[in-house]
Amino acid sequence: MAADLSPVEKAKFVAAKKAVELVEGGMRVGLGTGSTSAWMVRILGQRVREEGLKITGVPTSSRTAALARAEGIEVVTLDEARWLDLTIDGTDEFDGELNLIKGGGGALLQEKIVATASDRMVVIADAGKEVARLGAFPLPIEVIGFGWQTTKALVEEMLGALDVLGREVALRMDGDRPYTTDEGNRILDLHLGRIGNARQLALALNQVPGVVENGLFVDICDRVVIGYGDGRVEMRDIASGAVEHGRLDLAETKNVFSDLGR
Ligand code: A5P
Repeated sequence: MAADLSPVEKAKFVAAKKAVELVEGGMRVGLGTGSTSAWMVRILGQRVREEGLKITGVPTSSRTAALARAEGIEVVTLDEARWLDLTIDGTDEFDGELNLIKGGGGALLQEKIVATASDRMVVIADAGKEVARLGAFPLPIEVIGFGWQTTKALVEEMLGALDVLGREVALRMDGDRPYTTDEGNRILDLHLGRIGNARQLALALNQVPGVVENGLFVDICDRVVIGYGDGRVEMRDIASGAVEHGRLDLAETKNVFSDLGR
C-alpha cells in the first residue's frame, strides 16, 4: 500500500503520523479537514482502537465528523468540549511565521473557531505548502447567501486599496451550483497572487458586511509538521524557534498503510 501512494500522499501521511504522537490520553482534540487531516484522523483512530487511547475529538466539518466516528473516535461538539488541548489540521499554504491560508476544502469557518479555542494548533503539511509569501493559493472567504454579489463587489473595491497583486474574485462552484458550506454559506475565492500584509487583509475582509470569516490564520498556528515523500519529517515551533528532524521508515509502516487504506 505504501508503494502505491504518490510522494505527496506519503508526505502527508508522515506529517500526520508525527503530529498524532503529540496526542495524549484525556486530551480534547480538534480534528481538521482535508486529505492530510484525513490521514491524521485514521492514524488517531488506530491508536484509539489498538492502544485504548481515550480522547474526545471535535471535528471541523461534517466530513471529518463522519470519518472520526467511523474510526471509533468519540466525537463531541465544541460547545460540549468548551476548550481544547490541541488542534491538528492541514493547510493550503504556510509562511515562515506560520501564517496560513486555509479553506481549500471549504471548512475554514469551523476550522478557525476550533483552532482559536485550542491551547495549541499544530499544522500538518507536505513540503510543497511552504511559501515565502502567502497568496499564490486563492484565499477563500465564507460569505452569506443573502446579497452575496454585493458582498463580492465590496470585497473587490476594498482589495483595490490593499497590498495585493491580483483582484479577481470567484464564486466557488460545486458542478453547476454554488458550493455550500456546512453552515449553509457560500465561498468566494480571492485570486490575489501575493498578499503584502496578511494581518491587515484579514482584519479588513471581516469588516465587509456579508463576510462571515476569511481563510487567513494569523498568529493562530503554533507548530508545523512538514512531511516529505521519502519519510523525512521536520517539526518547527514558532514560539521557541526549535526545529526537530526525524524520519519515518515507510517500509515499516506497511501494515499501518494497509490497515488504514480502507
Ligand atoms: C479545509 O477547508 C482546508 O483548510 C484544508 O485544511 C486545506 O485545504 C488542506 O487540505 P489538504 O490537506 O487536502 O491539502
